[in-house]
Amino acid sequence: MDIDCRLSVPQTEFLRRDEDPLLIWQAGVGSGKTFTCSLYLIKHMLEGHRMVAGCLTHSALMKTLFSQCFDLAWKFGLNPVINKQDKTLKVGTGITYGYSNEAPNDVLGLSNIYGLVLDEASRCCEAFYNNLSDRLRGEGLDAPHKRLITSPCTEPGSEWYAELKRKHPESIIRATLYSNPFVSLEYIKELEDRYGIGSQLYRQQVLGEDIASDYLNAIVRATDFVDKENSRFSYLTKPLYYGVDLAGSGRDLTASALINETGLLNIKTLHKIDTIAQKNMIIEDFEVDNIQGGALDAGGLGVGVYDNIKHNPRVNIEAVNFAQAPSKDMYLNIRSEMYCEAAQVIKDGFYIDTSANKELVEELRNTQVFVNEKNKLQIIAKEDIRKRIGRSPDRADALVLAIHAMLHPRTNSSAAAVGNKVLAALGYV
Ligand SMILES: Nc1ncnc2c1ncn2[C@@H]1O[C@H](COP(=O)(O)OP(=O)(O)OP(=O)(O)O)[C@@H](O)[C@H]1O
Ligand SMILES: [Mg+2]
Repeated sequence: MDIDCRLSVPQTEFLRRDEDPLLIWQAGVGSGKTFTCSLYLIKHMLEGHRMVAGCLTHSALMKTLFSQCFDLAWKFGLNPVINKQDKTLKVGTGITYGYSNEAPNDVLGLSNIYGLVLDEASRCCEAFYNNLSDRLRGEGLDAPHKRLITSPCTEPGSEWYAELKRKHPESIIRATLYSNPFVSLEYIKELEDRYGIGSQLYRQQVLGEDIASDYLNAIVRATDFVDKENSRFSYLTKPLYYGVDLAGSGRDLTASALINETGLLNIKTLHKIDTIAQKNMIIEDFEVDNIQGGALDAGGLGVGVYDNIKHNPRVNIEAVNFAQAPSKDMYLNIRSEMYCEAAQVIKDGFYIDTSANKELVEELRNTQVFVNEKNKLQIIAKEDIRKRIGRSPDRADALVLAIHAMLHPRTNSSAAAVGNKVLAALGYV
């Protein structure tokens, strides 16, 4: 079939390297990213392949990628068929299944997928990328074919993407707005005026360069973490404090954090454990580490676990319900207060080994604070963080609870009561 389509230089390279298992097209706005993915998908569907395509949102999938594919295939006389319900697109004997980063776990079950295309990859979460990649299996499919297309990441949360680029520099194809001869000079001029030639935003948006950046309203930014040399960090400092975010309410991860006032000693995570196992874990942690005080998240299974340990004299732990009233009026709830206080502690030099705790750092950097309509400081909802990074910020919750226990120690009332009884029995009080 003779298809009449002119290509830009990077588009030619992208399509020519068809046998490469991985290509990462990182480019500026309007450089022809979506057009290129569309051509790639059409080519492979014409060869009878089954493909998966991922976009940031359902709307981007249907209104941008699939509609671009459909229009091009139509223009080439290929009779494409879109099924909006199933989010599939058929061209020739091939098919593309479409998914969205908004529902990363919908990508289940498919096999015999030849290749994947992920548009705006650097903004998608790792779980979405992994779930899509897991589809690339089946008889006769030896090497996976992955095509990641994206403008540079402007937000934290795409560590997986940065890591992939570090590992596969040979797979990166770069392009800029100027590599696309199919946009008008007016459009180029408009972007130049909007971003200002030479500015960071210009370099990022128009030239497609990586510029590390954080949300302006992130509670902690990359530059806020102190280096070990500049901290007072010591494993030996006592006392120790403990925070635990318990699995439950649909989540299957229990995370606990152990700290002293100089920094984070350890984060531990456990999958799928029941109330009794969670209770035993906490008791054991307190015994082994001789912890002075702790806090647990009383949502989900937390209440049940707390009921089981609250009378244990050796476990001085407070149950915190994230929605409960803050101690200071300026915060919406205690969750917002605890996160803001913990952020301040980190900025004041509390040490976190950022390379050993990448997930925790990602969770903190994606936690944003804003002033709500009632003039209270509020932390964005867990659901919003989950959408960005593909998981709940369980490690951050555990750390924040531990810092809360450190900043607001409480006397162990049950331990004190038991102690008093003993003293009374001995005739001392
Ligand atoms: N080979 C081509 N032939 C004709 N037009 C093209 C070609 N490549 C890109 N274009 C046109 O250039 C414009 C920008 O392309 P596209 O939308 O693919 O860029 P993008 O990098 O995905 O942009 P955005 O950053 O907005 O997502 C579109 O109008 C597209 O149709
Ligand atoms: Mg695009």
